[in-house]
Amino acid sequence: MPRYRIAPSLLSANFARLGEEVADVIGSGADWIHFDVMDNHYVPNLTIGPLVCEAIRPLTQAAIDVHLMVKPVDRIIPDFARAGANIITFHPEASEHVDRSLSLIRESGCQAGLVFNPATPLALMDHVMDKLDIVLLMSVNPGFGGQKFIPETLHKLRLARARIDAYREKSGRDILLEVDGGVKADNIAEIALAGADTFVAGSAVFGAARDDDPHHYDSIISALRAALAGI
Ligand code: DX5
Ligand code: ZN
Repeated sequence: MPRYRIAPSLLSANFARLGEEVADVIGSGADWIHFDVMDNHYVPNLTIGPLVCEAIRPLTQAAIDVHLMVKPVDRIIPDFARAGANIITFHPEASEHVDRSLSLIRESGCQAGLVFNPATPLALMDHVMDKLDIVLLMSVNPGFGGQKFIPETLHKLRLARARIDAYREKSGRDILLEVDGGVKADNIAEIALAGADTFVAGSAVFGAARDDDPHHYDSIISALRAALAGI
């Protein structure tokens, strides 16, 4: 597994050309596709669902990282698994039974993760570590792309890293640590130093100049990787 993963968020992509956007961003060297699902209930915005996941699935071998910002979560999990999701994460506040939702994701054949809002305490992961493949820390409040990185996340990342490392010592199993919101080429290095290994970037990637060249995302993906290589 590579040390770091870059997961562009489709939220900032051109929805009228979504298939090309997926192909171009992966062709430019991104690792995963981050897929933001919002329901205008758990968060005040409405985005895309399993039908869109199914439509982009044949276009790439890359993992599709489904970030559920919906309430309730359980009913929609099997739909995303059938639509080709590889990873499904959800917010603990949105599930009545967090342990059950994590099991359901795994039983559906996907990797499972919990998402922590900026004010959500990390202790919520303590009793479900065995069921986690990934932990996602929000570095903005969920709902919109293009927000500013909340600096307290750096401290929270260090605490999450310590929990994950202690668990690895004990169990021999690794859990990925992903960060989502306001990640750019000029802050990704300090975010990695705080302990993140997987980086969602929406506006930083898709906000980069676009034209008909399928390699238009090469320079921004390279810039993110160069910043990580410089650590
Ligand atoms: C926000 C979403 C993010 C968003 C990140 O609720 O979960 O994935 O797309 O966008 P940027 O990178 O622009 O902050
Ligand atoms: Zn997201």
